[in-house]
Parts: sequence; structure tokens; C-alpha cells
Amino acid sequence: MTKYVAAIDQGTTSTRCMVFDHSGRVVSVDQKEHEQIFPKAGWVEHNPEEVWTNTRQVAAGALAKADLTAADIAAVGITNQRETAVVWDRTTGKPVYNAIVWQDTRTDKICQDLAGLGGGQERYRDKTGLPLATYFSGPKIRWILDNVEGAREKAEAGDLLFGNMDTWVLWNMTGGVEGGVHVTDPTNASRTLLMDLDTLSWDEGIAADMGIPLSMLPEIRSSSETYGQVRERGALAGVPISGILGDQQAATFGQACLSPGEAKNTYGTGNFVLLNTGTDKVMSENGLLTTVCYKIGDSAPVYALEGSIAVTGSLVQWLRDNLGMIGTAAEIEEHARTVEDNGGAYFVPAFSGLFAPYWRSDARGAIVGLTRFVNKGHLARAVLEATAFQTREVIDAMNADSGVALTSLKVDGGMVVNELLMQFQADILGVPVIRPVVAETTALGAAYAAGLAVGFWASEDDIRQNWAQDKQWDPALDEETRERQYHFWKKAVTRTFDWVE
Ligand code: G3P
Repeated sequence: MTKYVAAIDQGTTSTRCMVFDHSGRVVSVDQKEHEQIFPKAGWVEHNPEEVWTNTRQVAAGALAKADLTAADIAAVGITNQRETAVVWDRTTGKPVYNAIVWQDTRTDKICQDLAGLGGGQERYRDKTGLPLATYFSGPKIRWILDNVEGAREKAEAGDLLFGNMDTWVLWNMTGGVEGGVHVTDPTNASRTLLMDLDTLSWDEGIAADMGIPLSMLPEIRSSSETYGQVRERGALAGVPISGILGDQQAATFGQACLSPGEAKNTYGTGNFVLLNTGTDKVMSENGLLTTVCYKIGDSAPVYALEGSIAVTGSLVQWLRDNLGMIGTAAEIEEHARTVEDNGGAYFVPAFSGLFAPYWRSDARGAIVGLTRFVNKGHLARAVLEATAFQTREVIDAMNADSGVALTSLKVDGGMVVNELLMQFQADILGVPVIRPVVAETTALGAAYAAGLAVGFWASEDDIRQNWAQDKQWDPALDEETRERQYHFWKKAVTRTFDWVE
């Protein structure tokens, strides 16, 4: 009998494979980081072949750690960093360029030119739920076709394929040049700026605007159905691949936010707040995205409002890797605990411009409020507080869009081990913050999607039952102090505008 479901989580900094049992508990995990390539200011790339090699290694590693074989695994799900664009040659299986990562801002001019066709930044909002911004995949595909020699001719001849990381991994797992399945799901497709949110199909007019041949685009299937079997001779050989969810939607699913009005916040490289709005798509008037939350088999799609924040955990990583100010990410909390507050310093990490609710590609990072009083501890605090303040901004926008104030926030992801941050988050939101027992909800959500498709889990009720609370942080800051701090944060944000000319 197969007792487990596996999930591949192809994230921004690493790829992991996790194995779950029927109660949603983690049985084993293996993880590998990949290189972050920064060729120029504002550019971020990954090597897709390195990512694929790591995928195979972590799948083997996770199974070996629990002494399992493919025969023990009922299904595998894929979840992934969204928007990151890979273009490859279907005849050789080789990428024509590195993957252009969601954080990359090189497509600013392309976005401006598209906005200039009429409608400005909101040109595609009605159809796609998204503003025109460097974040999304479509303009990245355009950049590759415009800038890689011979790419456009090959694409027009039908020789090139596009995929977000889910599609790249799936195509390779299902055989690559020998019959690989070229498929994505609506959660990933809804991040390209190319998908119609109502029909869940590619929009020919937008693809034409961007000069992207439709033949490059993967088939859009549901988030939970069998797409194929693992064909490469790896650890998972023969296992059905039956779930795909973009990582933030996967976390929403794994957090059992399955009813309208339920929301989660994932603290990863960036932060992403998603509010389930049910089968209604709610168009934002406050700088949020409308996106597909999941589509399980033949059921109607469920939509979400999303507040995307580009830089949160990656600010801590930057402090470690670029400044050497800390040796490990965990040290940030130790430094922050040496002081009472931020000493007046605010750090706005607009490294990729600002995402929600501003969508300003002209912004760049700033530390403001400095005096000689400020020390390393204050800066560490300002770094952590930046995550909480940015979250407050998107929750405020969400409350305004939905007309209902959030009463608590479910959290997950790497940074939720940071107690100081979690307390400050509750303080600055003024509502309780709740962490589940399994904080790895991204991989869990993809496992649920895959397991539901093969009958390993019977229904969404199993997911609800598996969810359990670990810890809750209640707000402990008086309102006046909270609003004063938030006021200074807002002021600090304005200092980052108009930087890129
Ligand atoms: O939209 C980008 C997001 O999917 C990346 O998530 O967890 O890799 O930072 P993460």
C-alpha cells in the first residue's frame, strides 16, 4: 500500500522535496540551494539546468532519508516560485537563456511601452487581474525573444517552449525531449499577464501585443489531476504527477484557507498575503492582484486577492550575503533583541521597486531616520519590522477591497520561527497572528492537490481536519504607539520613490 505523497517545492532560493503522510505530517525533507545570478543592477537569474539537477537530487534525498522507494509514494505534486520565466528548445531540451526571476526589473521599458499602447499600467487589469509590472512572466518572455540571438525565429517556427518553473520541472520529469508534458495550471498561468481570468485560457490579443507566439505556451489544465507519470529513471520513477499550484496558492491550500474570507501570509523570500474570495473574482481598487487560488479537477475555479511583497526574507539574506552583518539568518533576531525598538530607523527594501500596493518600478531601497544613536541592533530591528510594516500595508488594502476587516492572520514560511517578528506583526496589525503545527504549508498544499487527484485524500474536509494550531501571538501594543510607528513607515516609503529616472 502506498502511504505517502511527495511534493517538489521549486522555490526562489532552493528546491526541496518533502514527503507527507495521510495526517499531513512531514515524513522527510531534502533541500538544495541554487545560485542567485545578478548580472547587473536589477537583474536576477537562475540556471534552469542547475534547478533541474537539484530537483532530481532532492527527490532522491527525501526518499532515501525515510527509507522509501517510488512504490511507497501515491502521487507527487509540484509547487514553484511563480512568474520566473524559462524558455527552452523543445528539440534539445536546453534553455536558450537563464531563467529570468520574478524579482528582475529589466522589463521596465517593455512594460512602459505596452502601457503606452493605451490604458496605461491598468491596460490588462480587467482581463488578467494584474497591473502591467516587471514582476510577471509575459514581458520576460518578450525580453528573451527580443534579446537572445535567433530566439524569435525559433519561437515562430514552433521550436521554443515557455514555462514557469512548474512547467520546466514537469516537462523534464515526464520525459523532456522524449515526450515531456508541456502543461501548467491556472494559478501559475494567472501570473503571466497572458491568461484570461474568466476563461482560464491564453488571451490571443495580449499575446499578440507582447509578440509571443501561442505555440510556446503550455496547455492550462486544472491544479489537481494526473498530468503524466515520472518517466526519468530517478527515485520517483513511475509515480503519477497530479498536482500543480504556484507556491503562494499552495500555501493557501495547505493552510486550509478553503472558504471565502480566509487568508494566510507566507514569509519567504518575499511575503504574499492571499485572501480566498471563493468563486467570485474581486477586482482590487487598492493595489492588490486578482489571481486564481486553485482549481481542483472539474470544479469551478476559486479566486484570491493577493498582496505581493517582493523583499522580506531576502532582506535578511542580503544582510548576510552582501554585507556580512550576520553569519546566519537566525542571528538577526539575536541582534534585534539587544535593543528596545528601532531607534528611529526605518529600512524600506525596495530592491525590485515596490510591489503591492504601490507597483512602482522607479523605487529603490532606503534606510532613513539615521542618527549616531542607531546601532546594529536597531538596524536588525528595522530589517524585521520592514516585513511587518509591508504586511500591514497589504492587509489594509485587503480590508478596503473586501469591506471586511481581517480578524486574525494565519502565517507560515521560513521567517515564522522568528518570535520577535511574529509578536511585532501582531502588534502592528492589531489582530492575532496564528502559526500552524506544519509551517511548511507550501509543499503540503501541493501534496494535497496531488493526493486529492488520486484519492489519497477523499475531500477538502481531510485538509481542514489535518490543520492544527501551534502558537498564537496577540497584539500587545497600544494603538497610539502602533499608529505612530506606522506613520513613520509610510513616510519612509515615500523617500524611495522616483529614484530610477
Ligand atoms: O511570486 C513569487 C513567489 O512565488 C516566490 O515565492 O517563496 O520562492 O519567495 P518564494
